[in-house]
Amino acid sequence: MENTERRGEILPLFSAAPAMGFSYDGDLDPMVEYIKTLEYQQEVNGNAKTVDRYVHKLEGLKHLEKFFLDSIHEYARVVCLTEHEATIQQSWVNVNCPGVEQPSHWHSNSWLSGVFYLASDSQSGSPLTFHNYMKNFAYHFSSPSDKFDKEKNRFYKDETIPDTYNPYTSSSCDIASIPGNLIIFSSLQPHSVAINETKKNRISISFNTFPKVPFGNDTQLNRVDPFYESKNWTFSLCDYWWFV
Ligand SMILES: [Fe+2]
Repeated sequence: MENTERRGEILPLFSAAPAMGFSYDGDLDPMVEYIKTLEYQQEVNGNAKTVDRYVHKLEGLKHLEKFFLDSIHEYARVVCLTEHEATIQQSWVNVNCPGVEQPSHWHSNSWLSGVFYLASDSQSGSPLTFHNYMKNFAYHFSSPSDKFDKEKNRFYKDETIPDTYNPYTSSSCDIASIPGNLIIFSSLQPHSVAINETKKNRISISFNTFPKVPFGNDTQLNRVDPFYESKNWTFSLCDYWWFV
């Protein structure tokens, strides 16, 4: 008999950094036509990227920069609890042809990243899959859909019984790739794109960011200041320091 009664109170501890979704109101078609004129480089896995890695500066896409930055700053304000501004560093167009996937990866040397969809099948287009790196529990137990076939002497999945998950038990999370939507996420969050099973290209613009410099706290020794110039500090150490 299933026990659904809950007597205890869940006390949340930590959480993986969430993703945030934003919608773009403008027309996508001119941008789709524009990106067709760009030069592409195919990677080993079949995914094609623009040769230009600063596409947010290009004539046909530069109007997106403000939308991207406004979204980054809202994520920073709501999730990171800071008003500190960011700059967009590299940006590029991805073209996932039918049959192509993107393996799991994360974006180094970046604070927050974004992916903006120009074209994808909203229903059956490959979602953006985030992978949970927080290993919450050591053991995995069979779910209601795990059944045993006595005749074949093996386990099988009963697809008619839905499995249930919550944020503590999920190993991955899918976010639909909907044209006109921008997904912002922590650059350290591993993610992948499953095989494009549709007959159309899945097209997106990705970008990385870096906090405006300088930032950090001098007294906490985490200051990042490329403009810092060494000063002639005057030391006033107590005499006993010299006997250690
Ligand atoms: Fe990525």
